[in-house]
Amino acid sequence: MQQTVQESLLALLPAANGRKILQGGGGGGGGGGRGNGGNERARGDILAGVVRLAFHDAGTFSTAAGNGGMDGCLLWEEADNGGLPDVRDLLAPVYEDYNTWMSLADFWALAGITMVEAAGGPTIPFQYGRVDAASCTTDAGRLPDAEQGHAHVLEVFSRMGLSVRDLVALMGAHTLGTPPQAVPSQSHWPVSLESE
Ligand code: HEM
Repeated sequence: MQQTVQESLLALLPAANGRKILQGGGGGGGGGGRGNGGNERARGDILAGVVRLAFHDAGTFSTAAGNGGMDGCLLWEEADNGGLPDVRDLLAPVYEDYNTWMSLADFWALAGITMVEAAGGPTIPFQYGRVDAASCTTDAGRLPDAEQGHAHVLEVFSRMGLSVRDLVALMGAHTLGTPPQAVPSQSHWPVSLESE
């Protein structure tokens, strides 16, 4: 069944035109993100949006408080979650086919790992069992703030129970997608690291 859900998610993506999705010289892609055509750009933006949605749900976890995390709940009005309502709405019709037996949290998690793989990343093992939260009020202010420095970032990832190694690996997700006003080949790295 996991495979069926993943096939439905992959059907959201425009064709890859046989090129790599990763931007900024991912190799073999004929010029990174620049000049790959609208199809490729749209595909990359969907991939990126879904991965970001999954992280913004998971990234509110607190090991100490034992709450937050991947629970199918996001504070849509928070500035950090800007643009993600569009991703939620893109995924919603797909989830309608599975919502009788699968939590939204599991669906978003599976969507995230499906897109990581579609982007040329690793196959990430998936397990069902996340429980949706009725409200996500404990999430407020828990996502990392791009305006703050490395001490803040280390603190936030430590709160999630993640190591520096985990943090470095996860930040690789910023090679996906394009910021709203960026030149096409630019990744999010300058945004996130500019305060260092
Ligand atoms: C220090 C931690 C982080 C900070 C400060 C941060 C901040 C940001 C900011 C400011 C953006 C631009 C949002 C926009 O386009 O309006 C962004 C985009 C993005 N972030 Fe993060 N982020 C962090 C960690 C992560 C992690 C761990 C992941 C996933 C594993 C992730 C995935 C993404 C993706 C895929 C995008 C591109 C979305 C798109 O183009 O639609 N981020 N991030």
